[in-house]
Amino acid sequence: MASSKKVLLGVTGSIAAYRALDVARLLRQDGNDVQMVATRSALRFFPRLNGEVFTGHPVYSELFDSNGGGVRHIELADRSHLLLVAPASADFIAKLSIGLADDLLSTICLAVTCPIVIAPAMEEKMYFHPAIQAHLETLRSRGVHEIPPEKGSLASGKEGVGRLQSPERIRKEVRHLLNMSDCWSGIRVLISAGPTYEPIDAVRFLGNRSSGKMGYALAESALSRGAVVTIVSGPTSLPVPIGARVFQIETAREMEETMCREFPSHDLCIMAAAVADYRIQSPSGAKRKKDGTDWAISLTENPDILAGLSRKKKPGQFLVGFAAETDMDSSLLIGKSRRKGVDILLANDVSRPGIGFSSDENDLTLVTPLGEVLPLGRNTKRILAGQALDEIRRRWKSVEDGS
Ligand code: C5P
Repeated sequence: MASSKKVLLGVTGSIAAYRALDVARLLRQDGNDVQMVATRSALRFFPRLNGEVFTGHPVYSELFDSNGGGVRHIELADRSHLLLVAPASADFIAKLSIGLADDLLSTICLAVTCPIVIAPAMEEKMYFHPAIQAHLETLRSRGVHEIPPEKGSLASGKEGVGRLQSPERIRKEVRHLLNMSDCWSGIRVLISAGPTYEPIDAVRFLGNRSSGKMGYALAESALSRGAVVTIVSGPTSLPVPIGARVFQIETAREMEETMCREFPSHDLCIMAAAVADYRIQSPSGAKRKKDGTDWAISLTENPDILAGLSRKKKPGQFLVGFAAETDMDSSLLIGKSRRKGVDILLANDVSRPGIGFSSDENDLTLVTPLGEVLPLGRNTKRILAGQALDEIRRRWKSVEDGS
C-alpha cells in the first residue's frame, strides 16, 4: 500500500524511543518518506546514525546550527503531510499543550498545518496523572490525535498502562489518518450549530437548551481531517474552533438567510443546530413593563431550513440533518429522513438523562432514507463527531463512485 506521503516522525525522551526506529521502518514500507526529528534526550536512547539508516535522511535535533542556512523548522513543517510524535513523553505532552517552543520538535509542532498524532509512553501513574490527562484533553480539543498507550510491562518492571503502542498499530493509525486526510482535504463543510433565539421584546427571547457542543465537535473533527469549515452559529459560549470561518446569528430567519447564502459554495452541509420551530409573531422593539395583567404571546412557525436546503441541493452535494427525539422508532426516523430530504439523519434520544442537550455526551443513531439504521452508540460528542464524519464520508463516497 504505497502512499508516498511525507511523515515527520518526532521522537522524544522515553525509554521507548528506540522503538521509533521500528515505526520508521514500517512507515517507509508503506511508501512514506520519513523524516526524523529527535529531541536531545531521545538521542540518549539510540544513536543518531541508526535513525539515519532507518529513514534514509539526516536526523535533525537542533533548532539552531550552522549547517545549511534557511529556517529549518518552517521548511520541515511546510513539507509534511502528517506529524507523528512517537513516543511522546510526559514532558513533551505538557510542552505541546501549552505551546512551548524551546527546541526543534516543539517549534515544528507550532508551525505545522498538517494533522498531529501523538503516541504517549510513560509509567502508568504519570499517564493517569490529572496534569497529563488535562493536557491530553486540551490537545484533543485542538484536533491532535492520540494513539493511547497499551497495557504491558513498563520500564520500571511493573505491569500497567503506559507502554508505547506497537509499531504495527501505529502504522495502521497513520495509514488511516493519511487516507482520511486525503478524503477530506479541501472539502468545504458547512455546519449549523447551537440554538436560535427568537426575540419577545427588547430584552427577552424564546430559546432552547442547545449548547452547540455537537456542531462545534463536528467542526473541529472536520478541520482536523483537512476540510475547509464554515460554522453558522447560534448564541453559545464555546470558543471558535481554530481555522473555521464563523457567522454568528441569533434568529432562525437569520440562520436561514446565512445557510441559504453559503450552501451553494459548500460540498457537505450538516444541520446540527437546534432551530426554534416557532418565533414570536410581533416582537416588541421596547421592553414590555409589568402591568399586573397576563401576557399572551402569539407564535408563528419558522421556516424549516433543512427541508429548504434539500430542495436546493445540487448533484455532488451531501446533506445531513439531526433529529432530537423522545421516540427512537426506526420507521419514524426513516420517514423523517425522507420527509426532510436528507442523505443522512443523525438521531439522538433526548429523553435520557446525561446525554444530548448541553451535555458532553450523546448517543447517536445514523439513519438513511434507504432504510439503513446504524447505532453509533453512546460516547463523548468529540468521539461521536469523528465517527459520524467517517460514516458520512463512506456513504457519500459510495454515492460519488456510483456504488
Ligand atoms: O423537525 P425537527 O426539528 O426534528 O428536525 C431537526 C432537524 O431539522 C435538525 O437538523 C435541525 O437543524 C433542522 N431544522 C431546521 N429548521 C427548523 C427546525 C429544524 O433546519 N425550523
